[in-house]
Amino acid sequence: MPLLFKGVKELRNHINSIRKQEKASVGFVPTMGFLHDGHKELIRTSKLQNDLTVVSIFVNPMQFGEGEDYDRYPRDLDRDLAICEEEGVDIVFAPPVEKMYPEGFRTEVVVKGIEDILEGKFRQGHFRGVATVVLKLLNIVNPNRAYFGEKDYQQLKIIERMVTDLNLPVEVVSVPIVREEDGLAYSSRNTYLSEEERESALSIYRSFLLAQKLIKNGNLEAENIKVAIREFILSHPNVKKIDYVEITDENLNRKDIIESGDRILVAVWVGNTRLIDNWKVEV
Ligand code: PAF
Repeated sequence: MPLLFKGVKELRNHINSIRKQEKASVGFVPTMGFLHDGHKELIRTSKLQNDLTVVSIFVNPMQFGEGEDYDRYPRDLDRDLAICEEEGVDIVFAPPVEKMYPEGFRTEVVVKGIEDILEGKFRQGHFRGVATVVLKLLNIVNPNRAYFGEKDYQQLKIIERMVTDLNLPVEVVSVPIVREEDGLAYSSRNTYLSEEERESALSIYRSFLLAQKLIKNGNLEAENIKVAIREFILSHPNVKKIDYVEITDENLNRKDIIESGDRILVAVWVGNTRLIDNWKVEV
């Protein structure tokens, strides 16, 4: 079993004492729990690159807006601990909310310019919550490397920016999206989908394949590709609405003409579930 810590001081003392004895490198995988194969890939990458792997499990209230799914977000610490054991995780940090946000907490981290576009437009304050908790977790764990999935591409870019801007002594390692066999990107929110909704959710991945084919055939106008993606996804039952379909360069700047390495980013409501996904374009 991995060692489980709920308190900040206890975790810090433990990691510091190991570091002193062994000069161990520490890899850190921050999560909100309900671990799936996407998280396993982050853990496996960390284990390959570090002596010690720490996983945090914390459903961060600060990154959920009013009316979002904070209360119903899936939580199962025993299940997560069993997965961490299987994967050979050394330490799990699962603090209660009051340890992360004690009475009087007032600070917010804002990564200007990229926190209010795309996801940020539809989930106001979301990335302030993410950046703040990630900075806190990095300060608590003090890892050599921290692992983030490309599934949350905008989150990854915001964290990279924050780490550079604030001179944080950590290497951010990005890990490609892990998909189920039929193409659905792993997400803890997939558990909300009924069988029929899950079928409709596959339209997201399939729209990327369609877009990729159009692009390979020489259709490089971003506007045309976005229209094709929208029409394809919306033609499926249970798809309630699309928040956005956007094509950007790797730094989230909007593109008119598509080039290799650009990203297609989407947010789609299937039933009452909001799914995000993205795709790296090859021309
Ligand atoms: O990607 C997530 O699961 C969360 O946004 C993170 C990075 C753990 C911060 O709460």
